[in-house]
Amino acid sequence: MSSQIIPVEPFDYVVFGGSGDLAERKLLPALYHRQIEGQFSEPTRIIGASRSALSNEEYRKFADAALKEHLKKGEYDDAEVKKFLARLFYVPVDARSDAGWDQLKKILDEGKERVRAFYLAVAPGIFGDISQKIHDHKLITKQTRIVVEKPIGRDLASALQLNDTIGKVFKEEQIFRIDHYLGKETVQNLMALRFANALYEPLWNANHIDHVQITVAESVGLEGRAGYYDTAGALRDMVQNHILQLLCLTAMEIPSSMDSEAVRDEKLKVLRALKPINASNVEQATVRGQYRAGASSGGPVKGYLDELEGGVSNTETFVAIKAEIGNWRWAGVPFYIRTGKRLAGRMSEIVITFKPIPHNIFDQAAGRTVANQLIIRLQPDEGVKQSLMIKDPGPGGMRLRNVSLDMSFASAFNVRNPDAYERLLMDVIRSNQTLFMRRDEVEAAWEWVDPILKGWEEAGQQVQGYTAGTWGPSQAIALIERDGRTWHDDI
Ligand code: BG6
Repeated sequence: MSSQIIPVEPFDYVVFGGSGDLAERKLLPALYHRQIEGQFSEPTRIIGASRSALSNEEYRKFADAALKEHLKKGEYDDAEVKKFLARLFYVPVDARSDAGWDQLKKILDEGKERVRAFYLAVAPGIFGDISQKIHDHKLITKQTRIVVEKPIGRDLASALQLNDTIGKVFKEEQIFRIDHYLGKETVQNLMALRFANALYEPLWNANHIDHVQITVAESVGLEGRAGYYDTAGALRDMVQNHILQLLCLTAMEIPSSMDSEAVRDEKLKVLRALKPINASNVEQATVRGQYRAGASSGGPVKGYLDELEGGVSNTETFVAIKAEIGNWRWAGVPFYIRTGKRLAGRMSEIVITFKPIPHNIFDQAAGRTVANQLIIRLQPDEGVKQSLMIKDPGPGGMRLRNVSLDMSFASAFNVRNPDAYERLLMDVIRSNQTLFMRRDEVEAAWEWVDPILKGWEEAGQQVQGYTAGTWGPSQAIALIERDGRTWHDDI
C-alpha cells in the first residue's frame, strides 16, 4: 500500500534559529523528506536565519552535515541532497537590532506571491522581538504564517503575555503553535480509531470504561538541556502540552468535522472540565520524582543532580497524576498520567481499560476473566492492540485466556513512518490548523497546571528519588494501586 502525496503550493520557509539544534535534528531532515516524497512545488526555498555570521555556502554545509547525521541509512541520496541544498539560503539577522532585516526582505521580495512561513525555533524570550521586526520590516504578506515552538510560557501569566505579543502582529489564523505530539501518526490514528469506527464510540464513556492511563516514558536524561530543563521540570515540559493534548484527543466529544475550529473547540471543553488539583489535594493526586544514578541502555548513568554538576534542585524529572474530568461522559473515570526521564525504556502509550464483565457464567476451572484493554502505542512500534478473552484452544474443557489482537503499523503497512514534524510543517503551508494549539487551549492548559505548581510550592512537596532505569518512584505505583489498579507494563 502506498501513501498519497498531495503537493503543496510553492513556499519560502524562514527558519529563525536556522543553525540551531531543532533545525539540525528535526526541521531540515523533515523538509528533505517532504522533498524526496515529491511534496514541493517549485520554486520553494528554505531560508535559515540566526545571529551566526554564515554564508549560503556555509549554511548548506551545515545542512548537509545535519542530513548525514540525522537521516536513516539509505535515506541520503546524493542527487536529492544536491537539489535540497540548492534551495537553501541563509541570512544573518539579529532579533534585537535592525541588522540583516533589509537583506531578508530583499530575498523574500523575490517570492512575494508564495506562501511565506516564519518558524521561530528560538528561545521564547525573543518571540516578541522577532514578530515585531517581521512587522516593522513589512515582511507580512496575505499568505504569511508564523510557527512557534513550546514552551509557550512557564505559567498562565507568561503565556498570556507571550500570546499577546505575537497576537499584536499576527492574527490567530496565522499563528501555528506546534505540539509535535499532534503530528505523530498514532496520535492522528487515535482520531481515526474513535471517529471512523462505530465499534468504540458507544462504549467510550464512564458506563463502560474503568480508567485510562497515559504514559510517556523516556530513557534519555537531560541531553545537554540542563539550563532549560531545571527551570521547567516534567510537568511544564511534558504534561502541560503533549500529555494534555493526548488526554484531550482521548476524552473529547466527537467534533462535527475535522475542521480546525471544530476539533479545537472540543479539546478546549475537556481542558476546562479537568477537575482542579491544588494545595488541598495535590499530595493525594500527584507524585514528583527525580532520578538518581542507575543504569540505562545497558550502561551506568549519572543522577540528575550530578548532571546538573553539583546543583541542588527540587525539579521533577518524573511526574504521575491522577486526573479527573468533571463531565457526564467521564464522571468517576480516573485518567492516570505519568511521564519521566531515565525510565526503564522509551515507551508512550494510551491504555483504555474497560469495566469487568458484570456477571461471570464460567466456573472456577475456566480461570479468571480479565477486563478488556485497548492499547494505543505511540512509540516505539506504533500500533493498536485490543485484548480479548477467548477459550484456550484445544481440548481440556472451558478454560479462558487473555489474548491480544495486535496490529503493528510497521509490519501491517509497508510505508515509512514519517516524523511528526513532516506532517506539521506541510500543514502550515496548507494553512490547516487542526493539529496546532489554539491560544485558548494553551491558556486553559496552564489554568489547570498553575494550581498544581502552586500546590507543590505551598505543600513543600519534595521530589522522590528513583533509580535511573526503573519506572519511577514507588509512590507512583502507590498512586494507582491505592485505587486497586496497576500501571500497564507490558512492553
Ligand atoms: C519535548 C520535550 O517537547 O519532547 C523533551 O521538551 C522530550 O524533553 C521530547 O524529550 C519528547 O519527544 P519525543 O517525540 O521524542 O517523544
